[in-house]
Amino acid sequence: MRVAIFGTGYVGLVTGTCLADVGHQVVCVDIDQAKVDGLNQGIIPIYEPGLEPMVKANHAATRLAFTTDAAAAIDHGQVVFIAVGTPPDEDGSADLQYVLAVARTIGRHMSVPTVVVNKSTVPVGTADKVRAAIAEELATRGADIAFDVVSNPEFLKEGDAVADCMRPDRIIIGAANEESVAVMRRLYAPFNRNHDRVVEMDVRSAELTKYAANAMLATKISFMNEIANIAERVGADVEQVRQGIGSDPRIGWHFIYPGAGYGGSCFPKDVQALARTAQQYGLEPKLLNAVEAVNDAQKGHLFALIQRHYDKGEDEGVRGKTFAVWGLAFKPNTDDMREASSRRLLAQLWEAGATVRAYDPEAMHESQRIFGERDDLVFCNSADEALQGADALVVVTEWKQFRSPDFQKLREQLKDAAVFDGRNLYEPAEVEAAGLAYYGIGRGR
Ligand code: UGA
Repeated sequence: MRVAIFGTGYVGLVTGTCLADVGHQVVCVDIDQAKVDGLNQGIIPIYEPGLEPMVKANHAATRLAFTTDAAAAIDHGQVVFIAVGTPPDEDGSADLQYVLAVARTIGRHMSVPTVVVNKSTVPVGTADKVRAAIAEELATRGADIAFDVVSNPEFLKEGDAVADCMRPDRIIIGAANEESVAVMRRLYAPFNRNHDRVVEMDVRSAELTKYAANAMLATKISFMNEIANIAERVGADVEQVRQGIGSDPRIGWHFIYPGAGYGGSCFPKDVQALARTAQQYGLEPKLLNAVEAVNDAQKGHLFALIQRHYDKGEDEGVRGKTFAVWGLAFKPNTDDMREASSRRLLAQLWEAGATVRAYDPEAMHESQRIFGERDDLVFCNSADEALQGADALVVVTEWKQFRSPDFQKLREQLKDAAVFDGRNLYEPAEVEAAGLAYYGIGRGR
C-alpha cells in the first residue's frame, strides 16, 4: 500500500521504516529540510538500536523516501499518518498545533479518498478536531472528497521500538466506519500473522486507551517508589518485597522496579495531559495527581540520600565534593534525556556546590547540548574516567555496562567510598563487603 507519514520523530520514523520493511511504499514528510537531507543520506537523528540499517536498506530498496514536499506525499498516500509532536502546553495539556497544522495541510492537498490516521498521542476528541480541520480546508476550496480519521495509537518503547513495531502485542484501531477498519487491517496484515492482534473500537476509546496504558504503567512505578520509601523507613528491602509480590500474576513482574523516578517523553507528559482532560470534564483526577506528585518527589530522592550521607546540614557536606555520575539518559538504550531524573540530580548537586563527572554510553552529545560548558561539569569518555578524582559514585541509569563494577577498585578510586545506587543494580552486602557505603532505593535494612 502507499503510505505517507507526517513527522520523522521517534514515532513517525520507526513506524514508517517498519511499514516499508514489510513491503509498503512509504513517504515520510518533515518540515526540517536538514533532517530530511540527513535521512536521505542515511543519517538517523535519534539513537535506536536496529533502526539505522533498516532505514538504509528500505531507502536503498526505494520503499522508504523522505521529503519536505507535503503535497506530493499526500498525493502518494492512500493512508496518511499524523505522527508529529504534541508537547505539553503551559498547563500540562497536549498542544495540538502541529497535529492540526498537518490536518489543514492534508485538507488543502488531498485529491483522492484518504484514510487519515492519528498516531500521535492526542487527547480524547482530537480525531474530531482533525476531521473538522480537514473538512474546513476542503470546503474552502470547494472540494468534495471522502476521508475518514482513524485513531491508531502507538505503543513503542524507546530502545525496543523496532521490535515493538515489528511484533506488536496489540494494534488498536479506533474507527467510525467499516471501510477504514478494512484499510487499516490490510496495512497491518503483515504484523498480524498467527493470531489476531487487532483490537477494534470507537475512536474516543482508542484515544483514551493510549493514555490509560501509560498512566497505568506510571502508576505501577509510583506505587513501587512509595513502597520503597516505606521500606527505607521501616527497615525492609524493597527488592525482596518486589520479588515477593511479582510472582502473583495479578501483579506481575513488569514495571515494579523502584528507582530514581520515571522520565522520558511519554509518562510525565501523558499522565499530566490525562489529568488535565479529567479536569476539563469536571473530574478531580486524585490518583493521577498523586502518581505525578510521587514521581516528582522521587526525582529528588537520590540527592536526599547523598545529603543524608554527608549529613553536615546546609549542604556544607556536599559542597566542594565531586560526584561520578553513571547514566544521564532517562533509561538505557537511548540518548533521550527528556524529563530524565539525571537532570534533577545534577541541578541539585550544582546548587549544593558539588562538581559532576558524568558519563553515559549514548547521551554525551545530548547532555552537552543541554548543559553546555560549565566549571562544575566534566564530560567523561568512559565509566572509569568518570571515577577519576571522584569522592562518590551515583548511578542514575541502569545501562548494562554499569551492572558489575569491580567494587574493590571502586573502593580505591572513590575518596569518600560511597555508592548511591538509583536503580538498585547492586547487592548491598557485596558493595559493603568491599568497604564502601551503599545507598539504594528503598533498602532500609
Ligand atoms: C513508554 C511505554 O512503556 C510505551 O509502551 C509507550 O508506547 C511509550 O511510553 C509512549 O507513549 O510512546 P518509554 O517512555 O520509551 O515507553 O519508556 P519506558 O520503558 O516505559 O520507561 C519509562 C520510564 O519509567 C523510564 O524512566 C524508566 O526508567 C522508568 N521505569 C520503568 C521505572 O522507574 N521502573 C520500572 O519498573 C519501569
